[in-house]
Amino acid sequence: MNPQAKVNLALGLVGQRPDGFHELVSVFVRLDLADRLTVRSLGLPATHDQAADRLHVGGAQGPASDPDNLVLRAARLLRAWAARPLEPLAFDLEKRIPVAAGLGGGSADAAAALALAAQAWGLPLTAGERRHLAARLGSDVPFFASGSEAALVRGRGEVVEPLPAPVGAPGFLLATDPDGLATADVFGALAAAGGPPGPDAPAARTALDLADALRDGLDAEGLVSWARRLRDANDLWPPAVALRPALGGLRRALEERLGRPVLLSGSGPTLLALYPSPGEARTAASGIATRPVAGHEAARIRAAGLGRDEE
Ligand code: C5P
Repeated sequence: MNPQAKVNLALGLVGQRPDGFHELVSVFVRLDLADRLTVRSLGLPATHDQAADRLHVGGAQGPASDPDNLVLRAARLLRAWAARPLEPLAFDLEKRIPVAAGLGGGSADAAAALALAAQAWGLPLTAGERRHLAARLGSDVPFFASGSEAALVRGRGEVVEPLPAPVGAPGFLLATDPDGLATADVFGALAAAGGPPGPDAPAARTALDLADALRDGLDAEGLVSWARRLRDANDLWPPAVALRPALGGLRRALEERLGRPVLLSGSGPTLLALYPSPGEARTAASGIATRPVAGHEAARIRAAGLGRDEE
């Protein structure tokens, strides 16, 4: 399986729940930037042992296998849910999506691991069971488990309403600060940055309006014309830039170089710019790769297109 990354085109925080999590309203779209996850049987007897499964992580970020990896957590959760002996599995994960970047890589891997393990163990999950298990793994996992190319995501992340992806093929330039940001830290800095702005604030309204526009058939050119409004429609920008002031400088420099608005994805630190085609995003990305933004030479620049379903 090739678990694909996401970006948030708008992310409004409408309040905080008694359990500490935040209610959000966000438009997610999947990208063609993907990890690769495979699974095979270890050929050992079925067991109740929650630690029986193995993970090897390779690729640009690895190797860094650990029991807290969401792939192994997904397998453990499914074992606990099935409550019967299951054969030990070996997962192989090749990372291409930057880690702790606001691109949902770990959550995408978790949703893929859930699907692969359920298949390997012959556990047919209903859509409701899949949603429930996904939500227990993390707030972004239900979006990936839904299989939607785009969605309006609400609640803590568990309410996923599929949306049509933009018509045509928009392009995305992604600029990722090399040091990841932990989502929990960004939410943790939210109170000091003024708390969740609420349902009537611009970001939440923009997310709902963009969802309407996508339902009405917004195309790639149309999406680009939303960029100015989307730029200021992520309520995690103030805490993210408070934690990582360099993001403010990178955003200013990119906007000057690219001549277009630059958005924050999720809790960052990935910034993105919208293009009417992947080719135009690639040209812009290679321009920055050739002549890096002064002071931000370590930022990882790449281009992506929309994530489509695997054939
Ligand atoms: O659910 P996930 O493990 O991805 O969340 C990481 C952290 O981000 C949580 O511990 C919580 O602090 C914060 N969070 C939040 N509200 C959300 C999603 C995440 O407060 N809707």
